[in-house]
Amino acid sequence: MDIKEKIENLTAELLKHQYLYYVKTAPEIPDKEYDRLFDELAELEKKYPEYASDNSPTKRVGSDLDNTFPEKEHSIPVLSLEKEYTIAGLEKWLAKTIANSDKTLSFVVEEKIDGASIVLYYKAGKLDTALTRGNGLVGNDVTENARTIKQIPLVTGETADFAIRGEIFFNKSEFVTFNAAFENKFANPRNLAAGSLRNLKSSIAAKVPLKIFTYEGYFTPPFTNDHIMILAKLKENGFTINKNVGFFSDDSGMRSRVNEKLPEIFSGAISELPGYVKRRMEQRDNLDYEIDGLVIKINELDVRDALGYTAHHPRWALAFKFEAPTAQTRVKEIQVQVGRNGRVTPVALLEPVKIAGSTVSRATLHNQEYIEMLELGIGDSVGISKRGDIIPAVEEVLEKDPENPTIFKFPRECPFCKSILEKDGGHHFCKNRACPERLARAIIYFASKDQMDIDTLGEKTIVFMFEKGFIKTIPDLYSFNYDELLKEEGFKEKKVNNIKTSVENSKKKPFRKVLTALGFDGLGASAAADLIKNGFNSIDKIIAAAARGNVEEFSRIGGFGEITANLLIKHFTDPQRLAVIEELKKVGLNFAEEMPAMREAGDMPFNGQVWVITGSFDNFQPRSKAAEEIERRGGKVTGAVSSGTTHLLVGSAPGSKLQKAQQLNIAIIDEPHFLEMLKETCI
Ligand code: IVH
Repeated sequence: MDIKEKIENLTAELLKHQYLYYVKTAPEIPDKEYDRLFDELAELEKKYPEYASDNSPTKRVGSDLDNTFPEKEHSIPVLSLEKEYTIAGLEKWLAKTIANSDKTLSFVVEEKIDGASIVLYYKAGKLDTALTRGNGLVGNDVTENARTIKQIPLVTGETADFAIRGEIFFNKSEFVTFNAAFENKFANPRNLAAGSLRNLKSSIAAKVPLKIFTYEGYFTPPFTNDHIMILAKLKENGFTINKNVGFFSDDSGMRSRVNEKLPEIFSGAISELPGYVKRRMEQRDNLDYEIDGLVIKINELDVRDALGYTAHHPRWALAFKFEAPTAQTRVKEIQVQVGRNGRVTPVALLEPVKIAGSTVSRATLHNQEYIEMLELGIGDSVGISKRGDIIPAVEEVLEKDPENPTIFKFPRECPFCKSILEKDGGHHFCKNRACPERLARAIIYFASKDQMDIDTLGEKTIVFMFEKGFIKTIPDLYSFNYDELLKEEGFKEKKVNNIKTSVENSKKKPFRKVLTALGFDGLGASAAADLIKNGFNSIDKIIAAAARGNVEEFSRIGGFGEITANLLIKHFTDPQRLAVIEELKKVGLNFAEEMPAMREAGDMPFNGQVWVITGSFDNFQPRSKAAEEIERRGGKVTGAVSSGTTHLLVGSAPGSKLQKAQQLNIAIIDEPHFLEMLKETCI
């Protein structure tokens, strides 16, 4: 291929990806791959300018025009940013920028919010028009939708015209719930933000709690020569600015003036800038919004003007980008899993690929609608992501399988028992209680680490025994003659003895464990603890209450709604389930325990406390062990941070809960502190 052809191909390729990214909001390649192609083209064009096209993506930014919202021209340049991926590259840019300037510079570091870019035009201080970035010259008019965003002031204290740039985003913590309301249509918070702004009627957009951070302001005539003072002015006018901003200047007088106006931001000498960038990068997962890097900007507006722009980006700013935790791979197979309670989950089996430090070979596909939304088929090349603590997910189809471009058809029947699947809410269910897969899953769950912890009976062994017909139900684990296994390949005496010991040991597990290990819907560890605390400290008491059928008896327990109460009644009056319980009783499992209230409730050291746990711990693995300690001391453990939460227990790699707890001023307890508390309250 000659150079001319190569440039043409790269140009066409990049234009296609711009269209997919900006118009369809459905990129097919990771940002990094796009940037690599972009750099390759820019390099070639520099060497062979005669072949460069006028429409080259290096001369324009991507376009997000679409026909639903009218196009309008921008009156300010809405360009993209030059990118760097390493601290060394950032330091080089800083040194070069400082060396090339005859003025003393200062810098502002901001988070690069991963949302939808917007420009707000104000006339005589009132919001007039909101445009998407579009191709940088023309954007889509989304004013009506922008008006629905509460954080955008419609009227300001200004009297002149001005323009503002900002990023519309959606909080990570609200994403899962909201996405469910959209039938899991959006792959991530960014798509949800961009999609609501550009595709929804404003009446619907108004129901989406979109947020904005504003980060550039254009005031004429200029009232200041400092970008940082523009941020202060935006704040005074009721715009939301991000508090995670750093101001770097070697003039300490200037730093104090800035901190007087914006006390919440960090300020330091220029030599502190790279260290600040590193620290902010580490905080990424603790934020409740997605960022894909940081932006380093020259503060002095006259220097910005003098440096100007290339066709693609300003010369006075740099994006320091994170490696996106995404990867490309191929879907080898799509498996339809059936859980112990019948819920059907499609899972993609992938060619193993490294992502954010770990190898991923499976990813969830949520449900049938999600597969249809992706238009995914077996053999397709896909982009997968692992953001924060969310499990890997297939986000997009990059290329259909050229041999066999199909869309996976969700089965009509349960693949294991052939009964017809039934749809309930967003999911399908196998309602056959005798389904072999459901039975096997129930046994696997019962023996698993967080339940009865029969560690010698892992999933593989249980499936083997199940398929051989050795075990059919949970009680069979206790009646089976494990010596039978000696006849099977791979089962030596030592191994079989270990199995016998751990099965025997599991009989000592406390009642609360047995209760959750039964695997009944709605009966997890905290529900079991609540039942016991509220006087249901034996299975007989629970069964008797269920037989009375009085919802109130259960629903009066704090945290139990009517739904849980009804589920309990259903489970504990079900003859099949009662038969299993009866058999397990005979085997000698614990079906009662002392009421923790043997101590006066008021005596319990953690009485009245509501804890949430995030991250992982050296001394509590699995982390439910930490929850047990809290509950033993009278505390309650819940899954989500709310205004009722009193303590957040934080381990390593915490999720977004930390940020939320900080916002709500909740006591944050790390592992060493927690160990101290446990020692002091030893019970
Ligand atoms: S400054 C000419 N600051 O990143 C000024 N951009 O790749 C250039 N973005 O389109 C933009 N947070 O949508 C700037 N604090 C921030 C930003 C930011 C997010 C986005 C923006 C822009 C893209 C550039």
